[in-house]
Amino acid sequence: MVSNGDNKVQGKTPGELMEILHFYADAGVDCVLEEAPINRFKQATEISNEIPKARQSEQPRAAHHQDAHQKQPQAPTVQASTPPPLAATVPDEAAVSDARETARNAPNVDALREALASFNGCNLRFGARNTVFADGNPAAQVMFIGEAPGRDEDRQGLPFVGRAGQLLDKMLTAISLDRTSCYITNMIPWRPPGNRSPTPLEIELCRPFIERHVELVNPKVVVLLGNVSTKALLGTTRGILSLRGTWSQYHPNSDISIPALPTLHPAYLLRNPAQKKLSWQDFLSIRAHLDQPAGDQSQ
Ligand code: URA
Repeated sequence: MVSNGDNKVQGKTPGELMEILHFYADAGVDCVLEEAPINRFKQATEISNEIPKARQSEQPRAAHHQDAHQKQPQAPTVQASTPPPLAATVPDEAAVSDARETARNAPNVDALREALASFNGCNLRFGARNTVFADGNPAAQVMFIGEAPGRDEDRQGLPFVGRAGQLLDKMLTAISLDRTSCYITNMIPWRPPGNRSPTPLEIELCRPFIERHVELVNPKVVVLLGNVSTKALLGTTRGILSLRGTWSQYHPNSDISIPALPTLHPAYLLRNPAQKKLSWQDFLSIRAHLDQPAGDQSQ
């Protein structure tokens, strides 16, 4: 690279270079190739070996639940200014158990947000600008769980703020909800490069965090938006078109059972607007469920 006295590199200002890098990231480029080959599997193994050692030197944090319903304003989580190691880690069992322990040790929603923001065990984190944790009211009765942030969510650090999110907002309004009366998050908190689907291993790595998140929020109702969160959290291989509109129980742990409704993802509705009538039925069902008096939650 050639840098001259005016801070430009090959004729480009730092801002222009950032724009180019963001363009590549949006297009799905998640690593830079160099002249000499790099064994990233070896790097991943080394990093995975380091995680348990680093954890051992930490004081265990006590897990308790009483802070779960604290209402806190939901600010976007911006990545720490120290850049993460430039390695794309391949999730493995050690990383999954580290994720489980990290999530389990978070005593409340804010602690979970912080734990996730500094969790380095998932490769997706390194291609994302922000950790997209949640939006809305953690004390709300209903928690929506989507798939993963897209480009707009990654930029703003908040879930469902792009086109799909705008449609979701309209659907919420139609049943008298908004972001002050519901809580919104995703199965995966980091944008997969180029909006590809998360891999099964990435889903397994993120599962402990979303399970703990639901456990801490403990809403009256969970709404699963689309295939990814439905399959991962209900442990089913059935597709969303056959499961949507049918209530079942979600168990974030063996003591908690929460009515859960799978429904179509707003991004799917943007591509298939004729299916909005099915979503409308599902959203009316959510409204009816929320309106049931306490103690009459027979679905
Ligand atoms: N799609 C999702 O599943 N989540 C978002 O936050 C945005 C789009």
